[in-house]
Amino acid sequence: MEKNKTYAEFLKRDKAAELGGGIDKIETQHASGKMTARERIDMLLDKGTFVELDKLMIHRCTNYGMDKNHIPGDGVVSGYGKVNGQQVFVYAYDFTVSGGSLSAANAKKIVKVQQLALKNGAPIIALNDSGGARIQEGIESLSGYADIFYQNTIASGVIPQISAILGPCAGGACYSPALTDFIFMVKDKSHMFVTGPDVVKTVLHEEVSKEDLGGAKVHSTKSGVTHFMCNSEEELLLGIRELLSFLPQNNMDDINLSNCTDDVSREDESLEKIVPTNPNEPYNMKDIIETVVDNHYFFEVMQGFAQNIIIGFARLGGRPVGIVANQPMFLAGVLDIDASDKASRFVRFCDCFNIPLITFEDVPGFLPGYTQENNGIIRHGAKIVYAFAEATVPKITVITRKAYGGAYIVMNSKQTGADMNFAYPTAEIAVMGADGAVNILFRKADEEQKAKELEKYKEKFATPFQAAELGFIDEIIQPRMTRKRLIQALEMTENKMQSNPPKKHGNMPL
Ligand code: HXC
Repeated sequence: MEKNKTYAEFLKRDKAAELGGGIDKIETQHASGKMTARERIDMLLDKGTFVELDKLMIHRCTNYGMDKNHIPGDGVVSGYGKVNGQQVFVYAYDFTVSGGSLSAANAKKIVKVQQLALKNGAPIIALNDSGGARIQEGIESLSGYADIFYQNTIASGVIPQISAILGPCAGGACYSPALTDFIFMVKDKSHMFVTGPDVVKTVLHEEVSKEDLGGAKVHSTKSGVTHFMCNSEEELLLGIRELLSFLPQNNMDDINLSNCTDDVSREDESLEKIVPTNPNEPYNMKDIIETVVDNHYFFEVMQGFAQNIIIGFARLGGRPVGIVANQPMFLAGVLDIDASDKASRFVRFCDCFNIPLITFEDVPGFLPGYTQENNGIIRHGAKIVYAFAEATVPKITVITRKAYGGAYIVMNSKQTGADMNFAYPTAEIAVMGADGAVNILFRKADEEQKAKELEKYKEKFATPFQAAELGFIDEIIQPRMTRKRLIQALEMTENKMQSNPPKKHGNMPL
């Protein structure tokens, strides 16, 4: 081919790649309220930083007339660029090309960026909008998923992996996002299910809508599959940028230190009044968190799921920290199965990526009863103690009120390896609540005697003093000092050197 002809051919193919499935399909995509793969990448990355790879790759399928249906780049747009000035890798399924279905060629493109991300130690972001395995390709496309899942698993704990679901995500395709660290979904627009409503009807004779089966609301409130439910694609893409601002590039990278514009010694009088004097009165733990952290900014994760525990990121003195906190506003902050799963996975994420952990504790215990026991609260609850005990990042706890029984131990106690444990003067650190204890110890006593014993027990045990006398609490602090003390503790633990015994990996209760 002559040089100018080759150039013209390049321009033709390049343009065809830019248009994906063509103008009609792009219009349909827009009409259904969705952005195209390229528009999404543009919005996600810093302006002008995207470098596209394999833009002209085509599929090799000849079944069902596919040999006459080639679009340069096939159904995935992939490459690298920057977010907040930091290197990231990205791939986006292009729904305008055969419904974003996964061909062997698409899988090859995805695996290439996954491997580049891992080799170069940078986060990877997957923007999903796909009808699943490309049916015309048979097992070749299926095999592509296996390759992607393998890379997801190998990269886990080495680089942050983030998935966005921006349309359908069906069948085994759900397992790539599920293997990543965080999943974002858009309300009313994205769906994830192992199999859709039609198959459910055929196999189980159950009528269920797409939304009820695997919509963003279900996954962010009931199943706990997704970490963020957003109102729009724009909000979602900006959310990913925000999340990345807290994260290091990889597991060997230093924490993402930023300029602190908030006074590191700031004392806040309002903290003295947040915990009510009546131990049975609820309060919002987020009021404490937001008062204490830099610029009062808390980036909450899994906001709608297991609301009896709070997890999320914030900064203290410019250092990103992972926060785990009981929420007395929901189920009195008790630990149940969902709360245990939510907290443990977050603790492990922070530990993977060297993000210090701050625990705010007000927990009356594990939720007892038939349903919890039958569904394995023992197995799930064990995850929290495992995750905290195994974590070697700086670990700091503030007990604001209740810290009872096993729940006291698992919530980052001194005995399971926390570096600094603070308690407010309102803390109640005891083996069990006063009522339960008196009913066991003085079962046969009359009411008057029981009332007396109750007061005695409260005085002796429903305080932080016994724990402080034994060194289980390092310091009882005035609530107003919380921010200052936490930042001092983070400075003190900055060069913490701790590692667990060498092993292939532990056997976490799953
Ligand atoms: C090939 C596909 C496709 C697929 C959609 N298309 N899914 N082509 N393989 N898996 C094509 C359609 O034929 C259509 O082509 C175009 O994409 C857009 O699809 P529509 O149906 O017109 O769009 P919409 O109405 O928005 O519905 C989207 C959808 C639906 C909900 C995703 O297409 C659908 O249900 N697809 C099948 C989903 C599914 O069962 N996937 C599982 C595959 S098995 P034209 O040419 O008309 O534009 C699997 C196993 C993986 O994934 C296991 C991994 C371990």
